[in-house]
Amino acid sequence: MNWYNLPTYYDVSFSHEMREELDFLRSAFRQYCKTPEPRLLEPACGSGRLIVPLVRSGFDCTGFDLNDNALKYLQQKLKRNALSATVFKGDMVDFSMNGKKYDAAYCTVDTFRHLLSEKKAIQHLGNVAKHLKKEGIYILGLHLIPERGVADKITRWSARRGGLTVKTSIEMLALNKKERTETLKVILNAITKTRNEKFESVYKLRTYSLKQFQKVIAKSKYFEIENVYDHHYDISHPVKLSATSDYGVFVLRKSS
Ligand SMILES: C[S@@+](CC[C@H](N)C(=O)[O-])C[C@H]1O[C@@H](n2cnc3c(N)ncnc32)[C@H](O)[C@@H]1O
Repeated sequence: MNWYNLPTYYDVSFSHEMREELDFLRSAFRQYCKTPEPRLLEPACGSGRLIVPLVRSGFDCTGFDLNDNALKYLQQKLKRNALSATVFKGDMVDFSMNGKKYDAAYCTVDTFRHLLSEKKAIQHLGNVAKHLKKEGIYILGLHLIPERGVADKITRWSARRGGLTVKTSIEMLALNKKERTETLKVILNAITKTRNEKFESVYKLRTYSLKQFQKVIAKSKYFEIENVYDHHYDISHPVKLSATSDYGVFVLRKSS
């Protein structure tokens, strides 16, 4: 089972405590974009957890994803709320917007790590850069494998919307440092007054230490790292990540 096929539950689960992330994105677009009304692109937008509130705040947003259920959910949600965004089916590796260019792109919560090879990651970075205006920015947020210390093996939280409660656990089943993959098991437990359903999804993400992430950005030559933040999402406090850091939000500037 692929948990991204369940956008109603994914959206409730991942919208939990996302205020700081959203506030950070809004502030970062204001601070780092060269225009007061930036046009935004979200590769792999999923259920539109971020697009919907950003459109509500007045941003011109485009998003794409490979998952039909997520795209349908997002389109229905936009329609229901009389909001408008450009949404289409596309692959992070080779999407195309026929010449349309953006001031900023953003991709948080580990989505970049779905690209399991260096080749795909670099193709993605190149394609995002191609769709950005001169000096455009790309905000990438991902978990890092600490070079010292250990990452948490299991994370659990519970989120509620109306009469629906979604309990989520994400467990790291295996870490293959040679292959640079992490195997994760997600359990979603969707509970209403009349139903209690459990869904299990196992999938792999590519792993990055801080050095490995810096290396792929440098190797791609498409971006430079302008600033870095951590899980606090505090726009007034860029940080210097260390060998023990386990989450980074990177503000990348398109190379000239
Ligand atoms: C963790 S979710 C993030 C969704 C959304 N960006 C958010 O912040 O809530 C990861 C998304 O990546 C999508 N995805 C994975 N690989 C993809 C690819 N190669 N091209 C486009 N979308 C992809 C999945 O369908 C899923 O919706």
